[in-house]
Amino acid sequence: MNVTVDLASRSYDVVIEHGARHGLVELLRFRAPNAQVAAIVTSPSLHAQPWFDFESGLTQHVLEVPEGEGAKSLATLEALCEQLATLRLSRDDVVVGVGGGAITDLAGFAASVYLRGVALAQVPTSLVGMVDAAIGGKTAVNLRAGKNLVGAFHQPLGVLCDFDTLLTLPERERLGGLGEVAKCWLLEGRRAGDLAAASLPDLVTMSVQLKGAIVSADEFEGGRRALLNYGHTLGHALESLSLARDVDELRHGEAVAIGLAFAVRLAHALGRVDAQEIVNHDEVLLALGLSSRMPSHMSTPGLLDAMTRDKKAHHDLTFVLAGPEGFGVVRHVDPSLVADVLDSFRGEP
Ligand code: GLY
Repeated sequence: MNVTVDLASRSYDVVIEHGARHGLVELLRFRAPNAQVAAIVTSPSLHAQPWFDFESGLTQHVLEVPEGEGAKSLATLEALCEQLATLRLSRDDVVVGVGGGAITDLAGFAASVYLRGVALAQVPTSLVGMVDAAIGGKTAVNLRAGKNLVGAFHQPLGVLCDFDTLLTLPERERLGGLGEVAKCWLLEGRRAGDLAAASLPDLVTMSVQLKGAIVSADEFEGGRRALLNYGHTLGHALESLSLARDVDELRHGEAVAIGLAFAVRLAHALGRVDAQEIVNHDEVLLALGLSSRMPSHMSTPGLLDAMTRDKKAHHDLTFVLAGPEGFGVVRHVDPSLVADVLDSFRGEP
């Protein structure tokens, strides 16, 4: 299955199938015909996987960066760009990100700034990478002050989503990815009952189609693309606070799942949806095996502070919320209401 992200001359396909990684040679031959060198950016554990058998058709170098969120730092970016320079990667050459969301974010950002921009191909190997991070051209690294605070838009030449890579994905990473799938399912207005009939490839395809359509209509997040941040205001706040404590405490998708359950409760408190919508959200999360329990040690004032620092906020509290006319961005939400909903959500049995 191919999903096209339609951006005029920068359009590209997201290929979703078993063995998609073997399409790299053809992708680079057609989309980067003058390239001579491919720098494949990945982590040591992925490099050791049985499916790591990439052929680019070019002189290729595998560059290893730290595992997980540790890859997304300015220090790692600098080290990676130094390596690209040592390899004399030229403006005709290509960076290939092979990994989860953290690696595709880092590889994408390096490709966007090295020599003021070189070509990029993405091979996401996690569910989060396939359904969200590797599609749409957002690239970034983290600062101590928050996630993804330094980045750029840089669209890839193509994205190869190969289900073979999911066979070695740890269970916790798979579940984390389902947080982003739940977001897409809910944004599509789908019900929990229909999940039983959906296979993992169906869910990936549905999510990629939704994201592809939104990015095609609003590449730079002037409007509709902001809806992809559903569940992310609280999700990012939870993630920022947990990253400061222990990098393994809460994965992105786990935080998004909690953020989705919170967002529908906030929408209900604002009179935007009825209680049945809370039930549907909870059932979707449950059916996908996701927990919506708030970590009890994270204080309401700490979360409110982190949410006002969200890069989508404008010195206020901004949420994507369901409503009578569908989903929308709601700004200037009353902090005391948010605090009350957070407190009662945390206290739920
Ligand atoms: N992850 C949200 C977006 O790509 O817009």
